[in-house]
Amino acid sequence: MNISESVKYIGVDDTTIDLFESQYVVPEGVSYNSYVILDEKIAIIDTVDKRGMKEWEDNLLRTLDGKKADYVIVQHMEPDHAGSLARLLELFPDITVVGNAKTFVMINQFFENINIKDSLTVKEGDTLNLGSHTLTFVMAPMVHWPEVMVTYESSEKILFSADGFGKFGALSLTENEDWACEARRYYFNIVGKYGAPVQTLLKKASALDIKTICPLHGPVLSDNLGYYLDLYNTWSSYQPESKGIFIAYASIHGNTAVAANRFADMLRDKGVEKVVVTDLSRCDIAEAVEDAFRYDRMVLAAASYDAGVFPIMQDFLHHLQSKAYQNRTIGLIENGSWAPTAAKTMRSILDTMKNITIVEPVVTIKSALKENDIPALEELADALK
Ligand SMILES: Cc1cc2nc3c(=O)[nH]c(=O)nc-3n(C[C@H](O)[C@H](O)[C@H](O)COP(=O)(O)O)c2cc1C
Ligand SMILES: [Fe+2]
Ligand SMILES: [Fe+2]
Repeated sequence: MNISESVKYIGVDDTTIDLFESQYVVPEGVSYNSYVILDEKIAIIDTVDKRGMKEWEDNLLRTLDGKKADYVIVQHMEPDHAGSLARLLELFPDITVVGNAKTFVMINQFFENINIKDSLTVKEGDTLNLGSHTLTFVMAPMVHWPEVMVTYESSEKILFSADGFGKFGALSLTENEDWACEARRYYFNIVGKYGAPVQTLLKKASALDIKTICPLHGPVLSDNLGYYLDLYNTWSSYQPESKGIFIAYASIHGNTAVAANRFADMLRDKGVEKVVVTDLSRCDIAEAVEDAFRYDRMVLAAASYDAGVFPIMQDFLHHLQSKAYQNRTIGLIENGSWAPTAAKTMRSILDTMKNITIVEPVVTIKSALKENDIPALEELADALK
């Protein structure tokens, strides 16, 4: 794949991985992107996960067509990108490794006996001239990891954005797919905690004239960049993207599920524009995290369990907590057969989050939903609608 005359895609699709980062289901796989800039000097932007190393090496050598690579820019040291760095140094022992001070610390942590003959340590704003192309390095600490930097190529106005603007899905399987759905799931689960560093990077990016974004996962973005930048601004500032109510339930024997679905119908009857219901025991938790961030309101309905809350709800709330979930309005429904404790436990986790409004009343159901529970649910629905 060509990005332009001189910028080539040499990344690979991974369609056989079971779980990305050992936790995210990727039914359509994932791509590890890597790029080559062909100029008087040749630069490689990142390598790939070692799962794709052989195919990447073939892509690289075919693209180089007998020429040697002069530089490798290491934007991110996570193994899905730097996993083939040692192999690259075997292929081109004289290559100059370009990174920042933190990059080199991590290279030595990951690769015990790596033999780097030549290195170039860059800092914010440093440039590297390749001939007609010039790279400017922009530090992006915590836009996933502390050593992350992005690279701007000024002659073609390309931003190599590291994990930023990445998306799940192998390129060969997702050519005509909507970008936002899997980019959003990727963003909130992988980068979500670091909204402030993403905001800082977006501010730096706004000073650049960008025509193309080349991320390390998912498609190269070239049309309508404002759309992607706007979504990233919304997501990283923890503002809801859509008006609607996300109902997540955790039910042992199905009674809490009945109440959650009945409550969803009530909200729809009251004219709420969008109501989405999920069973935390059976859904992809990463998808639930995505929806919790996407909508402006959330309802948590859970069974009490061992004087606490059913564990899958606790697990979900810990995921939200670790991704810095904030700025949302929440309703609580608990169920219990002798001493209901679910709401108290959910509230204690929500209390650690910033700017969460818990709407009254908190509704308690005893074992199964009954007609005399309806007024309290109606009241909660009215408070949330
Ligand atoms: C292992 C286990 C532990 C439970 N712990 C509590 C509890 O601490 N307090 C309580 O009121 N109910 C407790 N329950 C009862 C359930 O919370 C109650 O039956 C449930 O909310 C019914 O809703 P469901 O059909 O959605 O599971 C427990 C149930 C099980 C199976
Ligand atoms: Fe990463
Ligand atoms: Fe990555």
